[in-house]
Amino acid sequence: MSLETATLTADAAPKTATLEKSLLRFLTCGSVDDGKSTLIGRLLYDTKLIFDDQLQSLERDSKKHGTTGEDIDFALLVDGLEAERQQGITIDVAYRFFSTPKRSFIVADTPGHEQYTRNMATGASNADLAIILIDARKGVLPQTRRHSFIASMLGIKHVVVAVNKIDLVDYDQARFEEILTAYREFADQLGFTSVQAIPLSARFGENMITRSGLMPWYDGPCLLEHLEAVDVESVDAQKPFRMGVQWVNRPNLDFRGFSGTIHSGVIKPGDELVVAGSGKSSVLKRIVTADGDLSEARAGTAVTLVLNDEIDVARGDTFAHPQGRPEVSDSFAAHILWMTDEALQVDRPYLIKLGHNYIPARVTRIEHKININTLEHEGAHKLDLNEIGLCHVRLSSQTAFDAYELNRHTGSFILIDRFTNATAGAGMITQGLNRATHVHRQELTVGKAARQELNGHKSAALWLTGLSGSGKSTIANLVVSELHARGIRTMMLDGDNIRHGLNKDLGFTDADRVENIRRVGEVAKLFVDAGTVVLCSFISPFASDRQMVRDLFEDGEFFEVFIDTPIEDCINRDPKGLYAKALKGEIKNFTGLDSPYEAPTNAEIVVKTERMTAAEAAGQIIERLRASDLFSMYDGDWSI
Ligand code: ADX
Repeated sequence: MSLETATLTADAAPKTATLEKSLLRFLTCGSVDDGKSTLIGRLLYDTKLIFDDQLQSLERDSKKHGTTGEDIDFALLVDGLEAERQQGITIDVAYRFFSTPKRSFIVADTPGHEQYTRNMATGASNADLAIILIDARKGVLPQTRRHSFIASMLGIKHVVVAVNKIDLVDYDQARFEEILTAYREFADQLGFTSVQAIPLSARFGENMITRSGLMPWYDGPCLLEHLEAVDVESVDAQKPFRMGVQWVNRPNLDFRGFSGTIHSGVIKPGDELVVAGSGKSSVLKRIVTADGDLSEARAGTAVTLVLNDEIDVARGDTFAHPQGRPEVSDSFAAHILWMTDEALQVDRPYLIKLGHNYIPARVTRIEHKININTLEHEGAHKLDLNEIGLCHVRLSSQTAFDAYELNRHTGSFILIDRFTNATAGAGMITQGLNRATHVHRQELTVGKAARQELNGHKSAALWLTGLSGSGKSTIANLVVSELHARGIRTMMLDGDNIRHGLNKDLGFTDADRVENIRRVGEVAKLFVDAGTVVLCSFISPFASDRQMVRDLFEDGEFFEVFIDTPIEDCINRDPKGLYAKALKGEIKNFTGLDSPYEAPTNAEIVVKTERMTAAEAAGQIIERLRASDLFSMYDGDWSI
């Protein structure tokens, strides 16, 4: 499946509907056996969408291949797609357009492989309504539940339960009601706004376009009447403003605009806009389109925005109004629908396409998978083809998004296999996992670059990792003294000291160590923002935590320094007498003894302390720093 057909946005469907008439997007769920193709064919036929030549060939084909005797087989109209598929033309979802005086309609048709949830999910992702087909003879089947669940998960609020082939049960009211009761029992948990059950016969046109005279006991609307009347006016324009930047349009030095399609909301020149990720803001100057400037633009319009100020905006950024911003975080919980044979694995790297961003990501946890036949939650470590799970997702960078419930465009994503580039899954965000939600970044007037300039050198974090007693603090102290003597602004963060203050609530369990390193990483980042060279001496025994800190920094700002001292030497030195205690069992979880140390494999600097003194080690580190870009603007004297 191509990326575009899988993208859970409205992009795949035609946008040519007339503006005056309202538009209803719907999809039909059921198999050909339930009469799905016949139902769509009948709607197209009776609303006169079929041209004369198509009609003649339909009549001819119906006689030749049809299954309906002398009558027209409407299913043949739709099933042509299946033939195209067999010829190797890939159609995951076909969109058909038809219109009545009251409304325009787009039907998402998912030919073939009806059992595959992924096709249905693709079709359902921008639909307002789902027609769930039930064969009156068979009643509610597991697939009825499955389709209903997926429809609800994808945010569809309106359902038509089309109890089809009612002619084959003699237009029996009791049978219809029995089916309706069974359906409601299940669907009541799914939170639909409207569920309209209609007894019908697609083949004979009963209760399709006009009310049938054969079921006087039914006093509800016929199918088309309901489709024309159901109240699903798109509320996208009433939602908070969102526009993802698809490209930065800079044809010459005099013009700089940001192009994209407005996902939701309304804007007009003079509005204050904010870039969700960075918090930078400006005022909207012009809304440029191919047909000239607009005085207002709303959801669904493709525009180029020109701002009053030159602020940093890149492809993938999201514009919002300052009062109604999306969440910005590097982790969220989401329902993921898995679409490929190779199972989703926790911690495996994938790429996520969220809006116009491609972001490296991992699923860190599967809370549960959902049995879509019973809606029960089951424990899981992986998701197989067609399975749906509630997952925790960690992105490699802070990104703007909304909950899917609030915005289908900014709340959905696809997962891409990094090696095959295939679409592997689709996701709907349930919530951000940043505990500080509703906290947005402030734009800072004096930034890192200005501070570095004032200091006369760039800033960086030197992260010294190694066993307790390996010599981290001693070496770090020497490096700091040398730099300080040369007028370089430094700071020192040391495990033992920080654990007396900021982190005095933390011990040495794995979880506490992770938190220890996370906090220190954030503090180190603040010092780098402040323009200093900050040395951090922490055992930091876990590779993934050191990676977490590394990810906080920009290229060239983070130096991992591995103080490589054999454990025997550390035990011999034992500067604080802790190894002796630990070996006697008086201290638990001691690194290198009963708690692991994962040595770095890609450290920028490795210091082998058994071959050199602490002063030599410090000298080696300073040489490495001087060879980097860190002191490129430093004009002091190194020779003192
Ligand atoms: S880390 O593992 O979370 O990075 P950190 O560097 O902050 O540890 O603190 C390590 C210091 O705490 C050691 O140098 C040692 O003095 C002291 N310490 C006390 N208990 C332990 C322990 N169980 N394991 C390691 N260090 C300990």
